[in-house]
Amino acid sequence: MLGCPIRLTEKGLIMEICVIGAGYVGLVTAVCVADFGHNVCCLDIDEERIESLKRGEVPFYEPGLSELMRKNIDRGRFNFTVNLRVAVSDAEVVYISVGTPMNPADGTVDLKYVEAAARDIAPYLSANAIVVDKSTVPVGTARMVERTLVENGAPESVVVVSNPEFLREGTAVKDFLEPDRIVIGTDSKDAVEKLKHVYHPMVDEGRDFLITSPEAAELIKYASNAFLAVKLTFINEIALVADRIGLDVLDVARGVGMDKRIGQKYLKPGPGFGGSCLPKDTNGLLHIAKAFGGSLRLVETAIDVNDGIASRLSDRLEKALDGLDGKKIGQLGLAFKGNTDDVRYSPAITLANEFVNRGAIVIAFDPEASQLAKRVLGDTITYVGSAKEALSGSDAAVIATEWNEFGEIQPAEFREWLAGDLVADFRNLFIPAEIKNAGLKYMGMGR
Ligand code: NAI
Repeated sequence: MLGCPIRLTEKGLIMEICVIGAGYVGLVTAVCVADFGHNVCCLDIDEERIESLKRGEVPFYEPGLSELMRKNIDRGRFNFTVNLRVAVSDAEVVYISVGTPMNPADGTVDLKYVEAAARDIAPYLSANAIVVDKSTVPVGTARMVERTLVENGAPESVVVVSNPEFLREGTAVKDFLEPDRIVIGTDSKDAVEKLKHVYHPMVDEGRDFLITSPEAAELIKYASNAFLAVKLTFINEIALVADRIGLDVLDVARGVGMDKRIGQKYLKPGPGFGGSCLPKDTNGLLHIAKAFGGSLRLVETAIDVNDGIASRLSDRLEKALDGLDGKKIGQLGLAFKGNTDDVRYSPAITLANEFVNRGAIVIAFDPEASQLAKRVLGDTITYVGSAKEALSGSDAAVIATEWNEFGEIQPAEFREWLAGDLVADFRNLFIPAEIKNAGLKYMGMGR
């Protein structure tokens, strides 16, 4: 016997789903869940965003998302609204996927959007609805959301489940549809059943579901991201040592990663971890530990090391160019990684800032992120429409983001376009010998 009003039809198990927050995670969740056959209504407080979605336009860059969204809009399974009653009243499952940014003042997790979403939806929740925290939230938040809901008019019986999301921007749709695991944190068997119905294709595929307490689910998300941040920082430090010894860190990383206990992923040196998750989640985890009387010195050190990388790389560039004052830097990339327009805590932005602060003139190109970068960097740098424009007449090329198209630039083109002769490849996209054979100097991360 199923514990919820699910209709069995020839199409499968159709449920009414509401997703609060149409950002990277909310929109991907909504689109993918609609693709599983459910009726999904996505709500955001940003009216402009909802209007553009209604026109079939995804308001950020995420490969594959707009095609899948249009397919499900055309099938009549997917709609958007700013109206809470419309979105929430009939929903059997309500996802909260709003932002949980870092408080700039102290590094704690700012839960104001989660709290506001809980207050907003509470009066409209039906008695059999479950609420699912998809946002990354500190330990204890599911219980806090439960209390907030009841205080604001939700039925006493409301259940809040923690179901953290592990997708990565740039491959978000694939990551959502093919997860390594689905973590469901709840004490309610009924809620587990409901979420398994939502994710029925994943159940059929035999994917791993981990059922735990809400608190464990919340900590799993932070611990996973902190582990990845530590792994990235570790290989970045090994790269700097490899540079001193005169070794190619890629050989070292390959050899280390061949150990199955370690694995190859997240062993690529770069200009530091960034983006909307790892910086805020590592800091968030420190505060979670502190709130429970603990500490995490390893994570603290990784944050410290990471914070210093842009300055260390700028020192190297400054030395190689004999000072940065008045030098023209052609910077390729502003997004925090390739295949996204997200510039939140982007190491490429930190690098641009460092260069500008040291007197350099930065001319930057990013295939997708210039508009968002402009909101952060303003007119301190110049934004151009191609790699050629960024590099032409520059004293050095700096590769700050690993867009595939940057890797296709020929060494002879660097030679032709640059006024100087330095290629600072902070993403290790090029083969040093090929750059050198074109009469240029190469600076990589541990090459
Ligand atoms: P985002 O900033 O892209 O989107 C959040 C959306 O929520 C915005 O469109 C905003 O207008 C909307 N919103 C805020 N308050 C609202 C309210 N009361 N009602 C309705 N809509 C509201 O955020 P993103 O990146 O999607 O992150 C969401 C959560 O998922 C965060 O906790 C984040 O840590 C987590 N996460 C993010 C991942 C990523 O790669 N971006 C990956 C895994 C988890």
